Amino acid sequence: MEPFTLYRRQPQGRRSNTRHIKMGPYLLLQTLGEGEFGKVKLGIHTETGQEFAIKLIRKETVGYSASRLNKVEREIHALRTLKHPYIVKLFNVIETEKYIAIILEYASGGELFEYILAHRCLKEKDARRLFAQLISSVQYMHRRKIVHRDLKLENLLLDRNRNIVVTDFGFANNKQDDLMATSCGSPCYAAPELVVNEGQYAGSAVDIWSCGVILYAMLCGYLPFDDDPCNPDGNNINQLYRYILSTPPSFPKHVSKDAQDLLRQILVADPQKRYTLDDIQHHPWLKPHS
Ligand code: ADE
Repeated sequence: MEPFTLYRRQPQGRRSNTRHIKMGPYLLLQTLGEGEFGKVKLGIHTETGQEFAIKLIRKETVGYSASRLNKVEREIHALRTLKHPYIVKLFNVIETEKYIAIILEYASGGELFEYILAHRCLKEKDARRLFAQLISSVQYMHRRKIVHRDLKLENLLLDRNRNIVVTDFGFANNKQDDLMATSCGSPCYAAPELVVNEGQYAGSAVDIWSCGVILYAMLCGYLPFDDDPCNPDGNNINQLYRYILSTPPSFPKHVSKDAQDLLRQILVADPQKRYTLDDIQHHPWLKPHS
């Protein structure tokens, strides 16, 4: 595999040809993706014909594990709290004997990941628009005291107008005093303080780091700090973090100076020195969207 490509870490959504099952008033159709506790299916409301994404959580897989149950509750709590144009909308939660089904807005434009792959990388104008939407949603969640903690390309979907839909709040947490102690998320997108400090970290700054990794991927078509096994620094998480701490991001020539400057201020290992959301919104690169 070439080092400079995005590659998927999760199994891809498959079309299944199983018979159609109903969940409450929804007819379950093809699989859109695989979640930690079950599948996400396309669902159609049998009376209105409206499409939804239905996240099925098999109670069996959650079992009696307090931490797994906590994760499901956290996600439902975050989704109930957040109402924003660029955050996936929660419509309903249905419980049956075997499943908890979370009825979500269907993002018909697919994953941002696939969109970038199809274009290799995005034009700055397109990346700017999507990044401004992402930052607006993150600012909203942080104001509502929720930190996502697992922002990555796979968790950013697109609606039919190609607007961002932030999804998967399974790691989301209510921030208290902006300090947290649990490490979560994917290593390629995780802020260095999550691993290096092994202790408390400023909640909101970790989401900002991940937004920087996402912007870098949009502009360059690959991740700035990759754990792709082809990358000699990437096959081991400790090595990956040593690499992150010691290597300032480098850029292909086509990335503008303003975009490079913004990314250099976001991908700063010290969370105290990292750009805040306000700083980002006032940066010249985002000026057309301020
Ligand atoms: N895959 C996972 N969640 C989804 C959603 N809300 N819309 C479309 N595809 C999805």
